[in-house]
Amino acid sequence: MIELSGREVQRSVAPVLGITVLDLAERNDVDWNSFCKRGTCARCRCLVIEGIEYLSEPNLAEERRLDPEEMEEGYRLGCQSKIEAVGPVKIKHTPYF
Ligand code: FES
Repeated sequence: MIELSGREVQRSVAPVLGITVLDLAERNDVDWNSFCKRGTCARCRCLVIEGIEYLSEPNLAEERRLDPEEMEEGYRLGCQSKIEAVGPVKIKHTPYF
């Protein structure tokens, strides 16, 4: 299962392979901000607390938008990172503002 924590809503949802974290949150009515969906605004930024190995590798947009230190700590962009395998994952929406 994937545990998604939005600003107020927290939900355990079944993984759907190949879709983004943001898509998964939206499909399950978890309140997850977004705007551009292209990897530039960072409103969808999130912290992967557990199970980052079940997500896609950071793409170019994430590397451009996030600091290397942030990525090392497990921060990703919800609109860019995809669910790639089934396993326990915990992700918290952590926008800058
Ligand atoms: S929605 Fe803008 S970076 Fe993800």
